[in-house]
Amino acid sequence: MGIRIKGTGRCIPERILTNADLEKMVDTSDEWITSRTGIKERHLAAPGETTSDMAAAAAKQALELAGMTADMLDLIIVSTVTPDMMFPNTATIVQKKIGAKPCVCFDIEAACSGLLYGLNTAYGMMASPLKYQRALIIGAEKLSAITDWSDRSTCVLFGDAAAAVILENDNDPSTPDFYADGFVCADGNLGDVLLMPAGGSVLPASHETVENHQHFIKMGGPKTFQLAVHSMVDACRILLEREAVPREKIRWVIPHQANWRIISAVASRLGMEEKVYQNVERYGNTSSASIGICLDELNRSGQLQSGDCVLAVSFGAGLTWSALLIRW
Ligand code: COA
Repeated sequence: MGIRIKGTGRCIPERILTNADLEKMVDTSDEWITSRTGIKERHLAAPGETTSDMAAAAAKQALELAGMTADMLDLIIVSTVTPDMMFPNTATIVQKKIGAKPCVCFDIEAACSGLLYGLNTAYGMMASPLKYQRALIIGAEKLSAITDWSDRSTCVLFGDAAAAVILENDNDPSTPDFYADGFVCADGNLGDVLLMPAGGSVLPASHETVENHQHFIKMGGPKTFQLAVHSMVDACRILLEREAVPREKIRWVIPHQANWRIISAVASRLGMEEKVYQNVERYGNTSSASIGICLDELNRSGQLQSGDCVLAVSFGAGLTWSALLIRW
């Protein structure tokens, strides 16, 4: 069919918040944060900088690399848990900001698994009789807007950023698709481990919800940790076994960048430590942006060659999890 990744991009906000900065805000230490998470610093959006601003900046970079203009797109998907507003969806706001023509635009809310949910969905739409030709898939998060800066158990973990991927169908049956195989799953029974309780229709914003800090991320840390490791390992094994891919064929494993301890536990259970790409120490957990940032860093630094096999895997609120076997 010939559906290929033609471009990648990222937007990392300028402002850096280091562990030393956090020591001045809550009762924590660089030693605690580094030893429990591997994170040294994270980037935060400027006050007026929105999720769609970062998404549009990442999209423009990806379009440039792909040698395309925005009016060539016929599908735009944005994954985010921090949309600019409840509606319209952030994909339509990005569409306007990058100057794309009228086309299909929607958001995916699958938390940290969102970019992989988006790539799986876009591929399905492009490979189906719907025949979309050029898709822009973005993971974009302004997590600083929903982070409780007085809660030391969560505020040290997250950062803001966006990343984008451009897919194009060259309609050449001899070109192998980027999509070798994918796995997507969720289990709503585990949803209360990681959530933002208020702001939806169950608890609309009120003085009480604001006073009770219910517009912020709430997380059961240790439980999330266990579920993350278990589900990501499981998803990778399903793809590796289903496609009969020997470990040595994989060039890179790109796990969602939540925490270095989660990443290394997943890598060691898979026996693929030396193949793991990680940058969590520089960005913290940027949710649906994290895998896209890794892909873009590898792509722009020439560490991905045509034909390379990449295994991306993610986990997030929902609970959602997903893996994608990519032919570069
Ligand atoms: N600085 C210092 N101490 C902290 C702290 C911080 N930033 N945050 C929590 N603590 C304290 C706790 O209050 C607790 O103290 P207590 O024993 O006196 O009650 C102690 O450290 C241990 O907390 P615990 O939660 O058991 O630590 P942990 O080893 O599980 O590490 C996380 C905590 C959050 C780093 C870890 O559970 C984790 O990474 N979970 C997954 C988070 C994640 O990735 N979420 C997103 C998924 S997409």
